[in-house]
Amino acid sequence: MKNYVSASILSADLLNLKEEIKKVEESGSDMLHFDVMDGIFVNNISFGFPVLEAVKKYTDICLDVHLMIASPLKYAERFAKSGADIITFHLESDDDPEKVITAIKNSGVKAGLSVKPGTPFEKAVPYLDKIDMLLIMTVEPGFGGQSYITEMTDKIRQAKKYISENKLDVTIQVDGGINDKTAAEAADAGADILVAGNYLFKAESMKDAVDKIRF
Ligand code: DX5
Ligand code: ZN
Repeated sequence: MKNYVSASILSADLLNLKEEIKKVEESGSDMLHFDVMDGIFVNNISFGFPVLEAVKKYTDICLDVHLMIASPLKYAERFAKSGADIITFHLESDDDPEKVITAIKNSGVKAGLSVKPGTPFEKAVPYLDKIDMLLIMTVEPGFGGQSYITEMTDKIRQAKKYISENKLDVTIQVDGGINDKTAAEAADAGADILVAGNYLFKAESMKDAVDKIRF
């Protein structure tokens, strides 16, 4: 089993973003997770286009953009133009998710769909043949440093089973509270990509921390 790691720069020292990204590259992380929050869909505001453009100029690492915003349709193309390689939006954020998926794909990038802890897996099923990645939130979106919600492990297992039984080409990403204790549980249940913020950026050695959550 080989899972991927996506380092969430929400937990980085933003004043030293260049050094922090270099650290991510040298740690062997596979992707950089970029959390966009608008203060409407979630109760927090993070960063957007100018920061993404700056990051893109500096690094070749895969930019995994997680939109926690209202009106993802309006902004999908611009995030693609600003450097995203994957754009994930929330199922709960738009009445017509299919339209958003099409807009993301038409912008030439991969499309991810995310579900909050309270949204059952079944709600994502109609879109699974249209997306590249399903993001199962393992905390309430909005803030880093929260604890992994154990009940989500069953949701991961359920998604994995459905995806394999139906031979779908969809990777499962998990986000929130991932550390050297919870990572194994999520990966065992079927998570392919583990997002980690606090755990990686607060580690003494990010490389060792990445190694510990790669199985
Ligand atoms: C939470 C964000 C996460 C966050 C994870 O809303 O989507 O990506 O950065 O942070 P940790 O790993 O610290 O829970
Ligand atoms: Zn995220």
